[in-house]
Amino acid sequence: MNQPDLLDELLSCRLDHGQRKVEPCCVVIFGASGDLAARKLIPALYHLHRELPEPVRIVGVARGERSDDQWRAELKTSLDRHSRTQPVDAAAWDAFSPCLSYCRGDVTDAEAFGRLRRHLERIAPAPQNRRLLFYLAISPSQFGVTSRQLEASGFLDRSESGEGWQRVVIEKPFGHDLASARRLNAELTRHLHERQLFRIDHYLGKETVQNIMLFRFSNAIFEQLWNRQAIDHVQITVGEKAGVGARGAFYEEVGALRDIVQNHLLQVLALIAMEPPSRLETESIRDEKIKLLHAIRPFTPAEVGSQVVRGQYGPGEIDGQAVPGYRAEPRVAPDSQVETFVALRLAIDNWRWAGVPFFLRSGKRLAQSASEIRIQFRPAPHVLFAAECGPRLEPNSLTLRLQPNEGISLHFNGKVPGSTMEIRPVRMRFSYDAEFGAYTPEAYERLLLEAMAGDPTLFIRRDEVEASWSVVDPIRDAWAGQSLAGTAIYPAGTWGPAAAEELLAATGHAWRNPGPGQ
Ligand SMILES: NC(=O)c1ccc[n+]([C@@H]2O[C@H](COP(=O)([O-])OP(=O)(O)OC[C@H]3O[C@@H](n4cnc5c(N)ncnc54)[C@H](OP(=O)(O)O)[C@@H]3O)[C@@H](O)[C@H]2O)c1
Repeated sequence: MNQPDLLDELLSCRLDHGQRKVEPCCVVIFGASGDLAARKLIPALYHLHRELPEPVRIVGVARGERSDDQWRAELKTSLDRHSRTQPVDAAAWDAFSPCLSYCRGDVTDAEAFGRLRRHLERIAPAPQNRRLLFYLAISPSQFGVTSRQLEASGFLDRSESGEGWQRVVIEKPFGHDLASARRLNAELTRHLHERQLFRIDHYLGKETVQNIMLFRFSNAIFEQLWNRQAIDHVQITVGEKAGVGARGAFYEEVGALRDIVQNHLLQVLALIAMEPPSRLETESIRDEKIKLLHAIRPFTPAEVGSQVVRGQYGPGEIDGQAVPGYRAEPRVAPDSQVETFVALRLAIDNWRWAGVPFFLRSGKRLAQSASEIRIQFRPAPHVLFAAECGPRLEPNSLTLRLQPNEGISLHFNGKVPGSTMEIRPVRMRFSYDAEFGAYTPEAYERLLLEAMAGDPTLFIRRDEVEASWSVVDPIRDAWAGQSLAGTAIYPAGTWGPAAAEELLAATGHAWRNPGPGQ
């Protein structure tokens, strides 16, 4: 696909139908020398730069002393490793790199913001230097001070009148529980208007996650069946083969419940289960998501015991290689009680979903790196072929594969060719790659584009964050002070502890584990 086509495609599939345009602007990355900037933000901006018709200036801010050229050289090295297109195109890099400049600064130092102002005035004309996307790729503990400094230095015009605009992008975690999320939200909105705040959950930038809504609301045959009359249960799996690697210290503070369930899993659940929005507009969609999150039945402490399973990986094998257990990973306590696996059964108290269990699970060091949603339909009410195939037929199911090998499969029963009436489950499969070619933009490309264009649909609203914490807080409270049982330790390379299987078996269900190819 050539570059103008690509841009058209990105813009045309925006939910506001491309009404907002990307204007010449500046992206200021606080945390310019960090992991997120190197691995995600700069590769995404490099790819966007090739497509955007308007000039975008990118300013990096961090405390270390370095020249523009030194920063560019560091970024080139990381781009060579992390760009989704390899090798990096020399001409494209030569066109992109002059857009990058570095401005040393400490976010706790007011003087740094004066320097930033002068820097912006030097590198970009007005009004481009008043159209500012501040990306806070710094520790969440610095979000408050940075937004305070931005306001105090006159960077933030809450009215967004005139030709300028200012937006602030922040990364999860948005607090570590409901109380801290509320404090963070209150602090940020003291300095910024909610509409200037773009909270990223990079899952929402994935094509396949966006496709959930399009799939549901543009295909009448499925939406007719999207309810408790037809659906038996729903499974959502986000599995990773990787362990915590070098991020042991971070993970010790977080665990799987906060790292994945509170955000990615609940966002996917909201898109799968929400009511159709009345309009394809940002706030209508967010309103439906929040209604769904509020309809999740809160766990009592006793229900946490029976409906939530946690686990931690022990030593095992991944792809034929022996790997250590979590407690032997660098910067992890040898007696750590942190969960690397969570499975839970949720109930949604509304008319559409009453009585339909939603099973969610996520873990590290599982048998596959794969994320998918499985909608399992109710079994056929009467099996005509019981004499040939037994009293139970495999129920129909629909699988939305989010990654890898993105696609959608419908499973049903078919006759095995031959003179007998043998029945076997078969599937129809739509594959993104086969249909549209291998091109899939990185989630960060999409999200940065949306933030520059000022479309917040794919970002998380304040009340969504708080509602999600309300779901997970009772789980953490019930776990507090309770050690992990010995049976919670699962061998690396498996699908988690046995209790996760029992969680489904208790209601006559079983996990369907994603395969590598699907
Ligand atoms: N990395 C990821 O994949 C990932 C994924 C999800 C969310 N996040 C979130 O993204 C944010 C950044 O993560 P990261 O992994 O990139 O962190 P990181 O590698 O530790 O980088 C932190 C950056 O902040 C700068 N910094 C620290 N203190 C500063 C200060 N007082 N003033 C100005 N700059 C300062 C550091 O540079 P100096 O030390 O030179 O100042 C460095 O550039 C965090 O909120 C994290 O939770 C990251």
